[in-house]
Amino acid sequence: MKEMEQKVKEIEGIYLEFDLQGLAKKIGRPLVIANYICDKNDVIAKKSENGEFQVAPELKNASDWRLFQELTAQADVIITGAGYLKRYASLGEKTQNVIDQFSEGGQFASLGQWRVGNGLKRNPDIVVVSRSLDFEIPSAAFADDRKVIIFTTFDGSASEKAKEYRKSGAAVVPAGKEGVDGRVVLNYLTDNGKYKVIKMTTGPRVLQILLNADVLDELFITRVDKEIKADPSDVQTVLHDRKVKDLPGFRYEQVFHQDGVTASNGETISQGFGVYKKDNISNF
Ligand SMILES: NC(=O)c1ccc[n+]([C@@H]2O[C@H](COP(=O)([O-])OP(=O)(O)OC[C@H]3O[C@@H](n4cnc5c(N)ncnc54)[C@H](OP(=O)(O)O)[C@@H]3O)[C@@H](O)[C@H]2O)c1
Repeated sequence: MKEMEQKVKEIEGIYLEFDLQGLAKKIGRPLVIANYICDKNDVIAKKSENGEFQVAPELKNASDWRLFQELTAQADVIITGAGYLKRYASLGEKTQNVIDQFSEGGQFASLGQWRVGNGLKRNPDIVVVSRSLDFEIPSAAFADDRKVIIFTTFDGSASEKAKEYRKSGAAVVPAGKEGVDGRVVLNYLTDNGKYKVIKMTTGPRVLQILLNADVLDELFITRVDKEIKADPSDVQTVLHDRKVKDLPGFRYEQVFHQDGVTASNGETISQGFGVYKKDNISNF
């Protein structure tokens, strides 16, 4: 335990130093970021024994989770999906918390204090993208005067479920015929709030929405120096059609390398932290 804490201390603060709020101010528009932990082949998730995908236990570790939260702590709003909210509803505290971890008493309460000291709400507002509208909004999502905005299809936005969400205090925004268009999400967030840093916190399908709309600015990657061996149908990768390193228009910057980290399956791993920056962001 002590060793793990020391490892976390080793990396503490390195993503706060990126000053994403300052970067957004410099570029004069919202900055859109995402981050993943993956193996050498970009694998981010693996089927568990119950058949559900989860972050591979060979990868999950406290140092990466700390840096995930340092990025999230700089966001005015997070984008999540129906899949995450279903996991949150069924697993509660066992799923990785992105809903109220910055609240007093939460696992990252000190980052919550940091947010308040830097003029941000205690926890970021929440965007959910969904076609099915088959999820419940956790009550914690509305705490501390936060906004919840759901982007869905044109039909979905006129449904009974949408009415229920609106009654509970969420906004429901029509954002596409078959699925959500990332450009509609970004335009809405740019026009309707003082959102400077927007962080996508969920899986590869929502990442693809942002890439299709060409609105992603920075993709932070923690790459664990190991190969997860599994049938391709039992794993998910960051991108479905290419490797992250082949993402056109992005340039890679290495940030930090860390050895001797304990993963959640008990194995010792090494990992590299780095960021793929859109070419027009690299100059700032
Ligand atoms: N290693 C990592 O860093 C990392 C990070 C995040 C997640 N993960 C893992 O990745 C796996 C997949 O995550 P996930 O299922 O939460 O994320 P996802 O694949 O991005 O999908 C999230 C939700 O987005 C909605 N969605 C997808 N495409 C859409 C579209 N075109 N329009 C509107 N809504 C759309 C779907 O909801 P509807 O069905 O309602 O349409 C879906 O449930 C999980 O096992 C998760 O643990 C790993």
